[in-house]
Formats: sequence, structure tokens, C-alpha cells
Amino acid sequence: MAESDETSKMRERLLRFERESRYLRKDSDERKVLEEVFDRSTQLAIEELIARKDLSELYGVVSAGKEARVYRGEDRAKDPVAVKIYLVSASDFRKRMSYIAGDRRFGKLPSGSRDTIYLWTRKEFKNLQLADTAGIRVPKPRAFLKNILIMEYVGVPPQPAPTFAESEVDEADYKWTFETIGTLWRKAKMVHADFSEFNVFKTPEGDVLFDMGSAVLATHPQAVQFLKRDVSNMVRFFRKRGISGKSPEEWAEEITR
Ligand SMILES: Nc1ncnc2c1ncn2[C@@H]1O[C@H](COP(=O)(O)OP(=O)(O)O)[C@@H](O)[C@H]1O
Ligand SMILES: [Mg+2]
Repeated sequence: MAESDETSKMRERLLRFERESRYLRKDSDERKVLEEVFDRSTQLAIEELIARKDLSELYGVVSAGKEARVYRGEDRAKDPVAVKIYLVSASDFRKRMSYIAGDRRFGKLPSGSRDTIYLWTRKEFKNLQLADTAGIRVPKPRAFLKNILIMEYVGVPPQPAPTFAESEVDEADYKWTFETIGTLWRKAKMVHADFSEFNVFKTPEGDVLFDMGSAVLATHPQAVQFLKRDVSNMVRFFRKRGISGKSPEEWAEEITR
């Protein structure tokens, strides 16, 4: 299939950024990136997002995880955006099922891994919207298409904001954490389900919760179990950093009361 000039230029540029940011170490890595991240359908989706004016530039990789890569981009107004591209070939899609099944927003379950990833992307977008509406500080969702999610860039480009894991944390962060878990539960009627020191940015303007693909509605059969796990993880993290208060049981009880 013939590739448009735009697409191949975009791909060349992305590869160069990946090389420069040393996410690519050997030739086989390079081939893998091409196949896994920029498969034909992802390239077309990027073109479509550009045509729709949701995106105008794509720069280097900010993060290269197992399941998703996050790029820095720019919108039409040259404001920075984060572009999260889920890897369609990631083999963990079965694991995701338990975070989708039981969510009444999404009806019939997809049968293949590609559709599962597309649904996951849509779910993260919806979850960000829901949290945003409830007044929780998250990266503002901008657009999504297939396996690509565009959102507000948090940090001072080219750097993303540091996470709790990379920052000093204090009592105010502790307070924010459990208030946020509580507001999510009571107002957004949602559980993050992957709340951890790696999924909260600490910025001069305040803490920002992100990575919301796993989040489930409070009606999900395992919602309470996920909430308890989120609470335990954060109690453990703050304890390691010398900040303690209520036990996980007390927090869970207080939040769901
Ligand atoms: N909105 C954003 N603005 C800036 N950087 C981001 C944004 N979202 C994600 N990142 C960067 O990508 C990393 C991984 O993002 P995350 O959503 O947690 O993906 P993963 O599913 O790989 O954990 C973050 O730690 C951060 O460095
Ligand atoms: Mg994460």
C-alpha cells in the first residue's frame, strides 16, 4: 500500500526523536517500534487527528511503557498536548477485561485485542472527563481516536511534571490523596483502580491525577476491592516516606461510609 508523503515524513520524524531520546538502542528495537506503535492503522489515525485539527505536531517520546507510549505534541494554538498511544500488540488485553466487564457504560465486550485496546482508550478518555467534571484535577481530555488519546500536557515541555515517586511529598499531598480518592468515590462515583505514586503529578499548581484507563464505576462488582487496594497502596507509599495517619481500613471505611 502506498504511503502518503505526510505519513512517511511523520514516521521518519518520530523515529528520529525516538533515536535521539535513546528509546531505541538497537535495530531490532527500531523495527519493533515501527510495527508496534506505528502500524498502518495508527498512522492513519494520527493523520485523521491532524486533519480534524486535534493535533498539529508530534515531537519526542515522553514515556515508553509496556502498554503505551506517550509523546509530546502540539495543538493548533501551539499549546503542548500529551499523546498517549496504546500498543495494539500488547498481549495483556485479557487482564484489561476485568476492568471493562461489569462497567455498564460499555455494553457488549469486544472479542479481539485491537477492539479491546480501542475500548480501553475510549474508557480512559471518558474516565478523565468524569473526574474532570467532578472537579478533580486531571489532564484535560481533548480527543481520542482508535488507540490514541490526546490530553492536556502536564509539566513544562519538553519535561513532564514529576510524579509523587520522583518528588518530595508532604502532609498536603497526603491530605490531597485521600480527599481525591474520596471525591472520586462520592462525586464521580468512580475508583481509579491504579492509584499509585507513579500516577500522580506534583506541580507547583497542585497535584494532578492521571493514567485513568483502569478506573471503574462504583457499580462495578469489584469497585470496593479496587478502592481498598488504592487506599492500601497510598498508605504504604506515604508510610515509606515517613507520613502516616489512618490505617487503610479506617480510610476505606471513612470514604465509603
Ligand atoms: N498528560 C500528560 N502530560 C505530560 N506527561 C504525561 C501525561 N500523561 C502521561 N505522561 C507521561 O507518560 C508517563 C506514563 O503515563 P501513564 O498514563 O501513567 O502511562 P502508563 O500506562 O504507561 O503507566 C507519565 O509518567 C508521564 O511521564
Ligand atoms: Mg502509569
